[in-house]
Amino acid sequence: MLIKWTQDLSVGHETLDQEHQKWIDILNDFYQGLLDGKSKEKLSELVVAMLDYTKYHFASEERYMQSISYPDFSEHKEKHDFYVNKINEFYEKIKNDKMILSLEVTNFLKTWLINHIKGTDQQYAKFANNI
Ligand SMILES: [Fe+2]
Ligand SMILES: [Fe+2]
Repeated sequence: MLIKWTQDLSVGHETLDQEHQKWIDILNDFYQGLLDGKSKEKLSELVVAMLDYTKYHFASEERYMQSISYPDFSEHKEKHDFYVNKINEFYEKIKNDKMILSLEVTNFLKTWLINHIKGTDQQYAKFANNI
């Protein structure tokens, strides 16, 4: 199922909310590509796009957390690093023909993303009194 950004995912920060929306769009593109049975090359491209945007968003969010002296910054960053490593692993496996992209992979990514925004990102939003 495609993910939809809804107000309950808000972190009360315009730029970061917009980034989350774009991040979700990119994941949806990947999911749609999988459903449409796109070629391995095309799916790899979509994974790279996802990886690039994920890194971009995490860096942006990490700068924000540091700007508000967020006390749980390191813990949060560890979670980001874990996710980036996961996508990297997927990408390497696809490239080396060691993995067939499956809905299971997409489900992992989607679940992680939603849980991360709700469970982890919204913590800094509360700390900053944004939500
Ligand atoms: Fe985050
Ligand atoms: Fe985030």
